[in-house]
Amino acid sequence: MKKSAFSPETQMLGYGYDPNLSEGSVKCPIFQTSTFVFKTAEEGKKFFEMAHGKPGHEKDHMGLIYSRINNPDMEILEERLRLWDGGEMAAAFSSGMSAIATTLITFLSPGDVLLYSNPIYGGTHKFIHRILTHFGVEVIGFTAKDSKEEIKKILGKDERLERLKMIYIETPANPTNDLIDIAMFSKLAADYSDSEKKVLIAVDNTYMGPLWQHPLKHGADLVLYSATKYIGGHSDVIAGAAVGSKELISKIKKTRTFFGTMIDPHTSWLLMRSLETLKIRMEAAALNAAKIAEFLSDHPKVEKVYYLGYTYKNNPDQERIFEEQYQSNGAMLSFDIKGGEKEAFSFLNSLKHIKLAVSLGGTESLAEHPATMTHADIPFEEKEKLHITGKMVRLSTGIENVDDLIWDIEQALKKVTIPQPELAL
Ligand SMILES: Cc1ncc(COP(=O)(O)O)c(C=O)c1O
Repeated sequence: MKKSAFSPETQMLGYGYDPNLSEGSVKCPIFQTSTFVFKTAEEGKKFFEMAHGKPGHEKDHMGLIYSRINNPDMEILEERLRLWDGGEMAAAFSSGMSAIATTLITFLSPGDVLLYSNPIYGGTHKFIHRILTHFGVEVIGFTAKDSKEEIKKILGKDERLERLKMIYIETPANPTNDLIDIAMFSKLAADYSDSEKKVLIAVDNTYMGPLWQHPLKHGADLVLYSATKYIGGHSDVIAGAAVGSKELISKIKKTRTFFGTMIDPHTSWLLMRSLETLKIRMEAAALNAAKIAEFLSDHPKVEKVYYLGYTYKNNPDQERIFEEQYQSNGAMLSFDIKGGEKEAFSFLNSLKHIKLAVSLGGTESLAEHPATMTHADIPFEEKEKLHITGKMVRLSTGIENVDDLIWDIEQALKKVTIPQPELAL
């Protein structure tokens, strides 16, 4: 059996690390250093030539230079990160936003068109609308409900199609759990690619990855992560990642070197530790989410539950996407309380164990109010259209005892007074 045949969860325990290079230490040490000593000046010259892609070094081994360019903890972490998605290479970043921003800036130029799915994480929405448009990129949104034909109509004129450079997808959509068909967009991208220009597909896989959805297998070129979430998994680090082909990730790494958006050695080490328990943490959280979704869907003060297991039921198109693309219903859910912002706030303020905080994918459960928190910057009308309203609460399910979580949700719902007209219904 070859080493590469082991499952990712097995490989998280040692892949890419040679104890012989670190005094036999079972675990990879933290290489807390900004720079590395060259054996000779000639060696330093060679490493710099290799870093700048100078030809003639194809058979040489690249050495360590400076921690903005390379560091053992960052490199071993990247080797492990790429395994879950079956990518050729990964790049690790200081945050999910730096992974997203560095990637988009690498491939988009003034005049290019970026097509993106709605809703997306508020920070990404702000970045593409405020920063990318400032640099002359045209950004066009679509929703999970738009068919291929409707998206072609949205893109409109031929001139605009020629400028289409990237399709950016977040699926399941945050916070509504709508599903986007990556394979369909891969075909659409192929329709508008030619020998001179390839339309790239980037997928933010933070909600389901890297365990339950593998976008590269469905035709995506790049997978992006807020590693702050499930990958880190303990709400104690901020980090990000990009996974894809050697060709594309190498380009992203060049931009990262100039922006200085790389991950630091200590955070890399913490993520390596987190990756060892990634699968069991995510599976435990998903089991809890299923029970909480069931409880909420039967509760008289809850109007609607946005849980993947319910989103695709009775919707053949969404069900097909689920069957083809996903391995789990995940651990993220949102729900509308009967009433509005006042009632949602009353629920959030009454929670005793579940923390009122943004972010997701940690061992502890977190609840937040998307309309005024994570998605605050999205224009009101757009949010209404996407069902991100005052009555919505988002829940990231942790790994606590599920009976404790349901007890907390139940007691907080008891404190909510539903407006009279609603009760009359
Ligand atoms: C889906 C998604 N993508 C990206 C990000 C940004 O990641 P970070 O906070 O690590 O910069 C977030 C943060 O909440 C997110 O939820």
